[in-house]
Amino acid sequence: MSEWQVLHVEAAPDLADLIEADLWELGCGGIERRDADQLVEKGAALPPAGKSWLWASFEGAAAAAGARDVLAAREGVVILSLQPAPQQDWSSSWRDRFTPHHIRGKNGDPAFLVRAPWHQEPPAPGETVIIINPGMAFGTGEHETTRLCLRAFAERAQDAGVLSAQRWLDLGCGTAILAMAANLRGVPRVVGMDIDPDAIRVAREVLEDNPGARVELIAGELQDAPGEFHGVFANILLGPLKELAPGLAKKITPGGLLIASGVLNHQAGELIGAMADAGFRLLDHLTEGEWSCCVFSAPEG
Ligand SMILES: C[S@@+](CC[C@H](N)C(=O)[O-])C[C@H]1O[C@@H](n2cnc3c(N)ncnc32)[C@H](O)[C@@H]1O
Repeated sequence: MSEWQVLHVEAAPDLADLIEADLWELGCGGIERRDADQLVEKGAALPPAGKSWLWASFEGAAAAAGARDVLAAREGVVILSLQPAPQQDWSSSWRDRFTPHHIRGKNGDPAFLVRAPWHQEPPAPGETVIIINPGMAFGTGEHETTRLCLRAFAERAQDAGVLSAQRWLDLGCGTAILAMAANLRGVPRVVGMDIDPDAIRVAREVLEDNPGARVELIAGELQDAPGEFHGVFANILLGPLKELAPGLAKKITPGGLLIASGVLNHQAGELIGAMADAGFRLLDHLTEGEWSCCVFSAPEG
C-alpha cells in the first residue's frame, strides 16, 4: 500500500470552505480543519486570528504533490507543509500527557478528581472521582471551560437534598464529563446530549469506566431533549449559545441554573446580553486564563 501524505494549508475561513471542496475533488481521503476561534484541548496549536488550517490526507505522493501544486496557484492559500502521515500512536502520546487534576469548589474545598483509568491517585476527602479515557473527544477536563463548569457546579449545587429531586441536562456533552459530575454529586436524572454522534459513542464508553454514574445519552439538539430541567450545562461556543438562548429559557424551570461556557473573556459581555434578552439573570462570572463561564438563573416565568 502506498504511503499517506498530509498536506497542511492555511487560508481565510471563507476560502477554506471552498478549498475543502477542491481537496475532495483532488482525491483526498480525509480532511481535518481547525479555525482560530475553535475550542481545542490544551496543548493543541491554533491558526492565527482570521485564518483556518486544513490538513488533507492523500494516499500516494503523486496525488498529494498534484493537490499542492493546484492550491499553491490559488490566491490567499499558503502551503504550510507536505509530509508523510505520522506513524505515531496518538492514543499513547495522549496518555503520556494526561495527568490527574483536581477541581475545587466553594471556598477552595475539594470537589472533583478527574483521572484516567490507569492513574492510581486516590481522591482527597470530599472529592468525587471522574474517570476519563476519551480518545479524541472533547471533555477530558483539561480545558479551562470544562474546569470552570465543574467549579461553577460545585460552588452552586451543594445542597444534596435539593439535588436529589433534580433533573439536569448537559447540552454538548462531549465525553459527558459534566453530566457524570452532576449525577455523581447527587442529581438522579441527568441527560447528556450532543449533535455529534461520535461524541455520544465516546460518552457511552466513558460511562462504562464510571459504573457509579447514570446518564441518559441522546444524539440530538436542544429541542429533542425530553421535558424540563432544573439545571443545564452548555459548554458550547458563543454563536450557538446565542442562538440557543430562547430555547434554553423554555427548557429550564423558573429560577433554575444555566452554566454556560465556551466563550472567551472578551465575548462574555455578548453572551450575558443575549441571555438577558432571553430573560436570564447573571449570578456569577468565573474566569480561568482567557476563558469565561457564566452562571445564570432562568426566567421566573
Ligand atoms: C467544547 S465541547 C464541550 C464538551 C464537554 N461538555 C466539556 O465541557 O468538556 C462542545 C460540544 O458541544 C457539541 N455541540 C455543539 N453545538 C451543539 C448544539 N447546538 N447542540 C448540542 N451539542 C452541540 C459539540 O459537538 C461538542 O461535543
